Amino acid sequence: IFRRKTLIAVLSAMAASAAASTPPACCDELLDEARDYFEPLPETVPQSEDNPLTEEKVELGKMLYFEPRLSKSWVFSCNSCHNVATAGVDMRPKSVGHTWQLGGRNSPTVLNSVFNDSQFWDGRAADLTEQAKGPITNPVEMAHREDLAVETLSSIPQYVALFRKAFPGDKQPVNYTNVAKAIAAFEARELITPNAPFDRFLKGDEKALSDRQRRGLRAFMDYGCTACHSGVNLGGSGFFQFGVMNMPDKKILPREDKGVQDLTGDEGDAYSFRSAALRNVALTAPYFHSGVVWDLGEAVQVMAKAQLDEELSKEDVADIVAFLESLTGDQPRITLPSLPIGPSDMIKPVD
Ligand code: HEM
Ligand code: HEM
Repeated sequence: IFRRKTLIAVLSAMAASAAASTPPACCDELLDEARDYFEPLPETVPQSEDNPLTEEKVELGKMLYFEPRLSKSWVFSCNSCHNVATAGVDMRPKSVGHTWQLGGRNSPTVLNSVFNDSQFWDGRAADLTEQAKGPITNPVEMAHREDLAVETLSSIPQYVALFRKAFPGDKQPVNYTNVAKAIAAFEARELITPNAPFDRFLKGDEKALSDRQRRGLRAFMDYGCTACHSGVNLGGSGFFQFGVMNMPDKKILPREDKGVQDLTGDEGDAYSFRSAALRNVALTAPYFHSGVVWDLGEAVQVMAKAQLDEELSKEDVADIVAFLESLTGDQPRITLPSLPIGPSDMIKPVD
């Protein structure tokens, strides 16, 4: 009798532990904990009060995003460095701009950038509208002048009509701020990537992640990557010294680019950068603002050492990479706009 009782106790304990390893949605501890740190990509794009997202504005913004005549040479558009066919990046360490000049930093993805708290590696633009005004006149990017860019668009009757529809209240709808607002509206509405396996997981589908991805998520939270990579975009908010525990080598963290310190002049901001947003990170090599690390596993190891003073095992790295792969969402399906031909006397490209 005693034996049988013991056996029953052992069996029921085994049954209980088997149940614990495949818990129902309500009791998945990993999911519960993940929900403390992360949010799924919202189904609807946040509306901005000073830039309402209308169909007309989004369509115009799409045209301007692909419009090379916003550059001095008529060669570069936003899409040159943020190619929507390649996850919103140019796949280069440093971007090529006007007269083949190289930019100072790697081009981050535009995908989901609407969910970042600020824009650029050093957060120097508050939002997408402010950001979009930068590249058009940046001498190593599109190298144009505000007035000439506006004059070009104003000389094309179809554009004038489209600006009128997109900005119905404005007396002079074709202006530089409206160019930026339309592009920002397009980015906010169309350049987002919902439905990543991790989003499905956060919404309650515990089968959305593989066992390896679950281990990677656990490691990501346990090591403390979440201190800087959390929220909707797993980053894109907050500024942190790159190399807070150990400075990476000079190739990965070039000492001449001091990040936020170059904006504020404050030595306490030395090598501070906005925490990188990690959605679609498996598609956006090379990594870091220096753009020199091509392998995601290596980027994970660099982060662990530089930010947390941890040496990860090969298994941990593979698990975390697998988890980061679960952040790849549905890529945008953009129909290419057809851009209107201008009159023969419009401003001409300059090499
Ligand atoms: C940064 C959009 C043109 C290269 C960004 C960011 C956005 C963006 C949203 C910030 C993303 C983030 O912080 O995560 C646009 C738009 C453009 C445009 C709307 C057209 C008006 C270009 C061009 C180039 C370029 C033509 C290359 C020649 C870069 C680089 C950065 C950047 C290198 C990072 C710069 C830094 O942080 O200092 N862009 N971009 N962009 N873009 Fe563009
Ligand atoms: C960048 C992952 C911990 C702050 C990155 C990148 C990856 C990553 C993959 C490169 C993204 C890209 O270039 O597109 C991780 C992982 C971590 C971790 C797996 C845990 C092991 C942290 C912590 C902090 C932090 C704890 C803050 C103390 C940053 C910053 C960047 C970044 C500021 C941008 C660096 C730059 O200037 O290039 N992270 N991270 N990360 N992470 Fe982390």
